Amino acid sequence: MSIIIVGCLCFILACSPHDPKEETVSMNTIELPEPQRSGDVSVEETMEQRRSVREYASTPLTLEEIGQLAWSAQGITDPARGFRTAPSAGATFPMEIYFLLTGTEDVPDGVYRYRNENHSLEPVIDGDLRHDLYQVALQQDAITNAPVVMVITGVLSRIEPRYRDRAMRYMYMEAGHVSQNVYLQSVPLDIGTVVIGAFSDDGVSDVLQLDDGEYPLYIMPIGKIR
Ligand SMILES: Cc1cc2nc3c(=O)[nH]c(=O)nc-3n(C[C@H](O)[C@H](O)[C@H](O)COP(=O)(O)O)c2cc1C
Repeated sequence: MSIIIVGCLCFILACSPHDPKEETVSMNTIELPEPQRSGDVSVEETMEQRRSVREYASTPLTLEEIGQLAWSAQGITDPARGFRTAPSAGATFPMEIYFLLTGTEDVPDGVYRYRNENHSLEPVIDGDLRHDLYQVALQQDAITNAPVVMVITGVLSRIEPRYRDRAMRYMYMEAGHVSQNVYLQSVPLDIGTVVIGAFSDDGVSDVLQLDDGEYPLYIMPIGKIR
């Protein structure tokens, strides 16, 4: 009897549909280095020098650089209240930050979600998905040129109960704050980036396997200045 049950279980498991998210079991959570909270470049200089950059050196980014950019996007700066580097309507915090990482030392290529509560990257999907993202974003070369691609998303259910029909508008505004932080943080790191708003919402959601109600808002390819 037990042999039959075990046999049935094996058959069911073998027939289960392939779910790439399950491949993440082999990918570990990445602890990010503590971010810098002071620097040599003034905020005025970062604004003066900020430019959209669409071609990058092939050098991969370090975890220090990735962590610094993640912190600039959604790092927690007031742990008691959970407040962050970017403002949020009513402190509802609908933003999520994903990184497509390729070639980062000791880090498997894949999609990772920034966990700001412990400044780490949680693996979401295994493998290099830049070409899939490029296909659903008008084949913009910056995406395949970049060793790192950040995707900013918003989870509507966190903000809609309070702001109703203004909630989606507020999510777009928040994505603007987040992306500007990333643009400015990139300057002292000698890193280039660009905001990409031209993409298929459904396409990006499919590539990143976003849950219903989580909306892609911006794609930001990121790489060292050539
Ligand atoms: C809402 C929005 C959407 C954008 N979408 C794209 C895009 O899809 N592709 C791209 O290459 N640049 C995009 N950009 C970047 C602009 O092209 C860029 O900011 C503009 O050319 C001015 O250059 P600067 O950022 O260097 O000042 C977008 C900018 C904004 C604000």
